[in-house]
Amino acid sequence: MATEVTMDKIVSLCRRRGFVFPSSEIYGGLGSSYDYGHYGVLLKDNVKARWLEAMVRERDDILALDSSIILHPRVWEASGHVGGFTDPLVDCRTCKQRFRADHLADPEHTELHCGKRPSKRPGETPDCDLTEPRHFNLMFRTRVGAVEETGVDVYLRPETAQGIFINFKNVAQLARRKPPFGIAQVGKAFRNEITPGNFIFRTLEFEMMELEYFVPPSDAQQWYEYWVAERLAWHLRYGVREANLRVRPHEADELSHYSSGTSDIEYLYPIGWSELEGIANRGDFDLTQHTNESGTKLEWVDAGTGERFTPHVIEPSLGVNRSMLTFLIDAYDEEVVAERERTVLRLHPRLAPVTVAVLPLITKDAGMVAKAQALRDELRQHLSVEYDESGQIGRRYRRQDEIGTPWALTVDEQSLTDDTITVRDRDSLAQERISIARAREYLLERLGEPWAPPPRTT
Ligand code: GAP
Repeated sequence: MATEVTMDKIVSLCRRRGFVFPSSEIYGGLGSSYDYGHYGVLLKDNVKARWLEAMVRERDDILALDSSIILHPRVWEASGHVGGFTDPLVDCRTCKQRFRADHLADPEHTELHCGKRPSKRPGETPDCDLTEPRHFNLMFRTRVGAVEETGVDVYLRPETAQGIFINFKNVAQLARRKPPFGIAQVGKAFRNEITPGNFIFRTLEFEMMELEYFVPPSDAQQWYEYWVAERLAWHLRYGVREANLRVRPHEADELSHYSSGTSDIEYLYPIGWSELEGIANRGDFDLTQHTNESGTKLEWVDAGTGERFTPHVIEPSLGVNRSMLTFLIDAYDEEVVAERERTVLRLHPRLAPVTVAVLPLITKDAGMVAKAQALRDELRQHLSVEYDESGQIGRRYRRQDEIGTPWALTVDEQSLTDDTITVRDRDSLAQERISIARAREYLLERLGEPWAPPPRTT
């Protein structure tokens, strides 16, 4: 029987090994908020690094940006977030459609149709199961200015995308190229989510990795398809199992107000198939809105020929925390080895919080300890290394397995005479001997190899 990965097992591992803690725990906790411990920080950093590598470092057509979390409040009026996220809304639990409560109560609004039976108004069929009206204050509001009376209401950004659009002109000048080109940003976003969180799947505060890719309008569909394929390939490249991923294009009635086409890359979470990443064809909605609202023309102009157009935008948007959760779930495995159970995170070596553990076999042996510490000091200049001399070697291996460390180097008796060490492979458990002098080169070579997840054990 294959390992069943439940959210409880992931939550428990994350807590046990210090990846993620419930936030404000000593005060009873705060719903949908989490704090990241040592290994959580390292894993999250690696997810961001791999994304930035694929989006910026490995390409010539994408530039990086880091915009403010608090933007001018008119940004959110232009983007549609102020109007779109503060209305009293009613959800239908059956057809999953959402309606403005004031429109439902107003017979003049004849455009409202039941999601299952369009000839009826929402609430008119026995199957309609409407919630009470709720104010969806999706954006967190705060005030700038020390004096309450003269302060200005501002918002914590619910996405990083708008910071990119309002900087289009600045970056386009720097890019010195005609679209297609993109702007990538990684940063915090905040949403006053009211639906249950499922651990770090949906939280009040999270990090996003967003690309806004600006293209000539006539090429938008082609680039949209390109980015759906490209983003799917990224998840596969870092080891998410193909069988657990699918692309789901949105139905016309699911599309956001700005989108003329959206596909979700979905993952088979323990809670069922759900959105991992969204790729949207946003058309010229955002640049046009900000042009109209700010009076600054956000368009591409060829200084030589005078050719000008408002680019269309393709947007792949992925939550760092949701991506991290996905990697954790996909990597989780349990197996019995030599009649003992072990839990192992089969993370891609370039995602694993610790790349290599360095362990003296006998921790009371000064010679082994000194050699192991010297090896640690050398390797830590290049790699994420953890040195561990606490407890029996078997226990230390299991601890590394649980945090997903792909290799463990052990200094033993033989090391003292011939300067060799053993390398233990997390997944196969194979051990080989290499010379200490070659350790760094060996690890860098292994890190550069293509990697695929081994099948889950039985
Ligand atoms: N700019 C487009 C945008 O914001 P979205 O589908 O609302 O699109 C993009 O969000 C991604 O951000 C999602 O696919 C998901 O990975 C992540 N995400 C959204 N809301 C989240 C939340 N409350 N907690 C964690 N991740 C979230």
